[in-house]
Amino acid sequence: MAHFEKARSLGEWFDQRLNTTGFIKVMMTEYWIPKDINFLWAMGMILAFTFKILIISGIFLLMYYKPDVDMAFDSVNYTIMQEVGYGWLFRHIHGVGASLVFLIIYIHMFTGIYYGSYKKGREMIWLSGMLLLILFSAEAFSGYMLPWGQMSYWAAYVITNIFGGIPVIGDELVVWIRGNFYVADSTLTRFFMLHVFLIPIAILGGIAFHFYTLRIPHVNNQKGEEIDFEEEANKYLTGRKKVSKVIPFWPVFMAKDVFVLSVFLFFFFYLTFYHFNFAMDPVNFDPANGLKTPAHIYPEWYFLWSYEVLRGFFFDIGGLKAADIGLVAFGFAQIIFALMPWLDKSPTVAPANQRPYFNAWFWIMIVILIILTIYGKLPPTGTNAWVGFYSSIAFILLFLALPIVTMKEAEKTASSIKPTGGKH
Ligand code: HEM
Repeated sequence: MAHFEKARSLGEWFDQRLNTTGFIKVMMTEYWIPKDINFLWAMGMILAFTFKILIISGIFLLMYYKPDVDMAFDSVNYTIMQEVGYGWLFRHIHGVGASLVFLIIYIHMFTGIYYGSYKKGREMIWLSGMLLLILFSAEAFSGYMLPWGQMSYWAAYVITNIFGGIPVIGDELVVWIRGNFYVADSTLTRFFMLHVFLIPIAILGGIAFHFYTLRIPHVNNQKGEEIDFEEEANKYLTGRKKVSKVIPFWPVFMAKDVFVLSVFLFFFFYLTFYHFNFAMDPVNFDPANGLKTPAHIYPEWYFLWSYEVLRGFFFDIGGLKAADIGLVAFGFAQIIFALMPWLDKSPTVAPANQRPYFNAWFWIMIVILIILTIYGKLPPTGTNAWVGFYSSIAFILLFLALPIVTMKEAEKTASSIKPTGGKH
């Protein structure tokens, strides 16, 4: 056993047993972050913080929520909203948080794409981020079912039905997921378990893994510069802080992060108190009724783009059924972002504005996603259906074109770097 001396303070007592100073160094005071980053690099911490807010507000809601088809709606709309002191506040915080977490995830993800932060050794950061996106989507979907309103019921119906399109096992799979032949009490209770237990645990593990994937490649920076972290850290530690290209995570980087986080929290609570309705669909204030289909069924705003890809193919093409084409297109939309590190063939790590071809690609992709999102909420009739169809095709073509666009860019970059022969 190690030798223990009598500790002179509580800190030293813990240090002897847990190596707290070593731990703090590795995780915080000597964990190096590039200096050349902007507020967009605070999004990761904002996400981690918003997840905490969701857990805490969720725990309060959990004390009064009843996962039973006969009681769920009332436990949310009467007990929590009207009878429990500040129940409404926790519900609004939870609803607004769920919506904002997706806004920030999308900003975080598109920042990664814009700066090429998924390249050259950063693939695992990207893939673990994608895993988190899937987990958050599952968490949001299962949570949306819990108030057992009309949209909860019908969104659950539509989404679980999607699995029916899988060849051979589809129909049985839908029954297995629902725990019944239709969306019923068994569906509600299992999604409740997933929402409050299994998925949050998986998310915690996912976040820990995502942080771990950052340790070796480190975060990228605004210019995509390859930094020698050891050398730059050495400069910082030997007092040459101005010339060093890095800063420690704690307290220097966090001081900046906390500022961005505070601005975000102003926005968060402004929405919570004054515009909470944006995160709640009016149709969901009607209790679930399996015999009355709402006029239009649509998911929350953050799923609209992929929902529109699903229903964009509204007519049969050749021998292929519209629903099957839609399902394949939907599957494509779900996995295609994960393949970014391999679809982008250019080795250049630089912001998109320094990569003209990629820049055009990036902004077209954003515009298409916005169009898909807008039309995903509109009834799919007349012109709307055609806009949905063409934007879904455009979305797919755009990703198929990415390897070609970036290969061209790589060739152009290679030919513009002239070989430098002669004396130095
Ligand atoms: C939802 C939970 C998530 C949390 C808590 C989280 C947290 C973080 C944190 C703290 C960082 C380092 C600082 C920063 O760049 O912001 C980071 C970096 C990164 N994350 Fe996430 N993230 C999440 C989701 C995602 C998603 C969905 C993606 C996209 C697929 C993603 C991709 C990345 C990438 C590429 C980096 C490296 C950025 C760089 O090198 O500049 N993350 N994340």
